[in-house]
Amino acid sequence: MKVARYLMCRPSYFGVSYVINPWMENQIGQSDQSVAAQQWDALHRTFTDTIGVEVSLIPPVDGLPDMVFTANAGLVEGCRFVPSRFMHQERRGEETHFIEWFSAAGYEIIDIPGYQEGAGDMLNWTSPTGESTLVCASGFRSDFETAERVASVVNRSTLAVQLVDPRFYHLDTCFCPLPGGHIIWFPGAFSESSQAAIRDLIPSDLRFEVQAEDATRFCCNAVGLTHKNQRHVVMGHVGSDAQTWLEGKGFAVHVRPLTEFLKAGGSAKCLTLRLDSGLV
Ligand code: ARG
Repeated sequence: MKVARYLMCRPSYFGVSYVINPWMENQIGQSDQSVAAQQWDALHRTFTDTIGVEVSLIPPVDGLPDMVFTANAGLVEGCRFVPSRFMHQERRGEETHFIEWFSAAGYEIIDIPGYQEGAGDMLNWTSPTGESTLVCASGFRSDFETAERVASVVNRSTLAVQLVDPRFYHLDTCFCPLPGGHIIWFPGAFSESSQAAIRDLIPSDLRFEVQAEDATRFCCNAVGLTHKNQRHVVMGHVGSDAQTWLEGKGFAVHVRPLTEFLKAGGSAKCLTLRLDSGLV
């Protein structure tokens, strides 16, 4: 049986030591190292023990506090890895460590010039009939021309969307593709025309619109997967309406508080990168 595999990075050097998104404002030095470690451990165990999938670990590096957010390592497609090229200088030091890890793991490294932040801004949506679209966001961290180049390398058709609210600076903070073609999303994070494009692409019975109150607790920054014929979703926070909808669609909902990571602008999805199956 094929088992899903994720990349995570222990928060040994995690903290907020600079401000590159609105969540980090007034949070420098405010995260609690031991609470962060406990929250991360609980997330890790949810994947390895509760659900029973595999997690590989990349060693954390002192001085790179955001390296825990492995979703931003790059894009994985089969045995190819397109490393991120970070917009902010504060995160650029992570690039070589991710490239070294993926090349030691046997991936072909495909370097593409231009800014893009990997699975933070490019997410694959697969329709119930199996057609895939790479939804690529620009606005804050990635430029669409770069995403187009990445998509052509990995042979995907793309949907370009525009992010307009700085609190939702990465696509994975406001748009979450799930098994079966489902999504949960926060429309207010997108331009009007991008909202319309998403509604055009994805049938209404597969879409759930998260309330602002839950979106700002990063309800959409969730990880969806199927394991042994059971759909799962792992998230740092869920609203009761989203939970009811997800359960109605057959998902087991695992909520693990990740409040320390929210101080840096991340939650469950940012803390993981799917290694085995395309760009999910
Ligand atoms: N502090 C990090 C940054 O601003 C958080 C990254 C969260 N990652 C994500 N995929 N949304 O880059």
